[in-house]
Amino acid sequence: MLILGIETSCDETGLALFDSEAGLLSHALHSQVDMHRAYGGVVPELASRDHIRRVLPLLDECLRQADRTKGDIDAIAVTVGPGLAGALLVGASIGYALGWALNRPVVGVHHLEGHLLSPLLADPAPAFPFVALLVSGGHTQLMRVDGLGDYALLGETLDDAAGEAFDKTAQLLGLGYPGGPAVSRLADFGTAGAVTLPRPLLHSKDLNFSFSGLKTAVLTAVRRIDNTCEQAKADIALGFVQALVDVVAAKSFAALASTGLRRLVVAGGVGANRQLRERLTDMARRHDVELFFPPMALCTDNGAMIARAGLARIEKSAAATSSFAVRPRWSLTDAGRTE
Ligand code: KG4
Ligand code: ZN
Repeated sequence: MLILGIETSCDETGLALFDSEAGLLSHALHSQVDMHRAYGGVVPELASRDHIRRVLPLLDECLRQADRTKGDIDAIAVTVGPGLAGALLVGASIGYALGWALNRPVVGVHHLEGHLLSPLLADPAPAFPFVALLVSGGHTQLMRVDGLGDYALLGETLDDAAGEAFDKTAQLLGLGYPGGPAVSRLADFGTAGAVTLPRPLLHSKDLNFSFSGLKTAVLTAVRRIDNTCEQAKADIALGFVQALVDVVAAKSFAALASTGLRRLVVAGGVGANRQLRERLTDMARRHDVELFFPPMALCTDNGAMIARAGLARIEKSAAATSSFAVRPRWSLTDAGRTE
């Protein structure tokens, strides 16, 4: 079965063709980062308009790469939430229109379920059950995953998401948008121990996170330095990354301990972070835990994870619908269970 995946929930237009036998045949992506940079963040209206321009050319590119035609597509999976309403409507309108035109089923996919299942695109893929650490620009959650649609929330951020903390730190350090990769690179030049920032909720008994205090601590530290001093900025970047990684890694392993599971799956944009990957890899080795990441290029938003999640849904329940609505706010635990 050949699935077309369409992702337009935020600032990336992603399309992909995933074959149930052969795996990922092609994926094509357009990032709007350059367009939004001037505004320091995503401008929803501009995002929607740009998705409209990109979806069909990216579809052609995917078909060309995979040497397939539209008629070869067996089903369409499209992100219908959560995300920016206008941006979601672009992908959903095109996805459902293609479905009607080609007379193929369309499944609406939860964006976070796409992230959650994206490690299934790696080889080897994780088996159920596992603990999932979802760390993206909008979410920071620990979930217990017992199977497709069987998700229990173990803990989540009470305020900012980890990716948001990276982006705000980048802004404060004058690194522009999006900040994750830039903060991570700058941290490489920092001096260990030069700046120590708070580790919010590190010792709380629950599995929740809080990053807004860390952001305020970065702001205070930035105000104290001469902002032409690159070394001082690198020291703050390192202090920030170490604080965030300490908390995220400790909570992930606390989640494993509390569930008794020995398999950890990391997904979402911050899952591309090198320092976090290194720390988790090291801890997994020491604690004899199996650790899975999506392929690096598929950590951030993309169409492949949507196609893969769509296939999982179709295999489980053939949940195709002929009418659609987007759900800009939609909890993964609500979306979880298949009908
Ligand atoms: O999953 P994603 O592409 O979009 C959402 O669904 O939110 O995640 C985007 C987030 C941004 O906040 C970005 O700064 C962060 O992931 N990110 C990173 C890295 N690459 C992307 N954060 C830290 N290190 C990275 N290498
Ligand atoms: Zn995402």
